[in-house]
Amino acid sequence: MSLSRPVAAAADASRERFCRVRAESLALAAPLSAEDQCIQSMPDASPTKWHLAHTTWFFETVLLQPHADGYRAFDPRFQYLFNSYYEALGPRHPRPQRGLLTRPSHDEVLAYRAHVDAAVLALLAQCDEALWHIVAPILTLGLHHEQQHQELIVTDILHAFWCNPTWPAYRASAAPALRLAAVPEPMKWLARPGGTVQIGHDGQGFAFDNETPRHTALLHPHAIADRLVNCAEYAQFIADGGYQRPELWLSDGWAAVQAGGWRCPAYWIAPDDARLAHQGHGAGHLTGWQVFGVHGVRPLEPGAPVVQLSLYEAAAYAEWAGARLPTEFEWEAALDAPGITQMTGRAWQWTRSSYDPYPGFRPFPGVAAEYNGKFMVGQVVLRGSSLATPEGHARPSYRNFFPPAARWQFSGLRLAKDI
Ligand SMILES: [Fe+2]
Repeated sequence: MSLSRPVAAAADASRERFCRVRAESLALAAPLSAEDQCIQSMPDASPTKWHLAHTTWFFETVLLQPHADGYRAFDPRFQYLFNSYYEALGPRHPRPQRGLLTRPSHDEVLAYRAHVDAAVLALLAQCDEALWHIVAPILTLGLHHEQQHQELIVTDILHAFWCNPTWPAYRASAAPALRLAAVPEPMKWLARPGGTVQIGHDGQGFAFDNETPRHTALLHPHAIADRLVNCAEYAQFIADGGYQRPELWLSDGWAAVQAGGWRCPAYWIAPDDARLAHQGHGAGHLTGWQVFGVHGVRPLEPGAPVVQLSLYEAAAYAEWAGARLPTEFEWEAALDAPGITQMTGRAWQWTRSSYDPYPGFRPFPGVAAEYNGKFMVGQVVLRGSSLATPEGHARPSYRNFFPPAARWQFSGLRLAKDI
């Protein structure tokens, strides 16, 4: 089939991007054993093996089965096993029981990936111009979908490792722990004007449907912090009795503190934590907080952004600090504010905006209509991106979202206040 030169170039770029993104998922799984990749530590977190299979199922179901003539499913049972939440595609294995799937084996899931990869590349090699215009947006959506799961591969295995009394390191680090890190720079307030701003995706390149349509939002004069709240500052909140003072907390947040016994961010380890005795770290040695992360247990880095916070903790900290969380509109409008830092690449930032449709929102067409819109209730928007977000995945208009009690993500906060 001959393609026009621009379409041929776009197809080449898509092939290259497909191979790169698919390989990155395997690279993220590479430090993990087959046993690691099968575990599910809680209903919200999925096994690595499930992520590898489900992202493959997406290409098989949404791209290959409708558009690749003669495509033969790798295993028809996978339709049931690896559907996540698509009602239009039929019943599925219950989410909380993904960790029970010792079969298919890890090797079978790798073979499934190879089978689908070969079929996608064959489809791209054979498709004519009309078919290209149909499959190109699906391919792009599938790759952004896979990148979302790449971040979850990291956050979900970290939760599993946190539940393991040996606190394994996902990645070894050659760098020494920053035990004596320099005193962090004081936070600065950046004054921001009121008025109308344009919010949402500008139409250049890919965006999820939840970032559209671009629309006008009204801001009131406010100030926004030039950086994220760091671990040293959050430790002061704890030391000041932050987790014992109900007046700082939203009602649901205070209930979560009581029910969960929360005394610090999800992966912080107090100096007197008895679990340290099992680790060879020495229980009771009062060297300060330690924090579990991708490199295992390390001394708290005072200047590092605090992460693994629920919205409730972020809001309580803001209350304690005499401030509030920014709205998602204030956050997006501040992206080009002179002096602002750490907007992306460190931590997702809780906003005080509920995850609602923008005015005029229309879901993606077809099966992908279930991708975002049906989750727009009871969740809160986070903006930015984290250290686990794949390169090139997030955008200024990107809207992440989680329930307010979620604390297994790289979720932190930036302060704002009214002026
Ligand atoms: Fe998914």
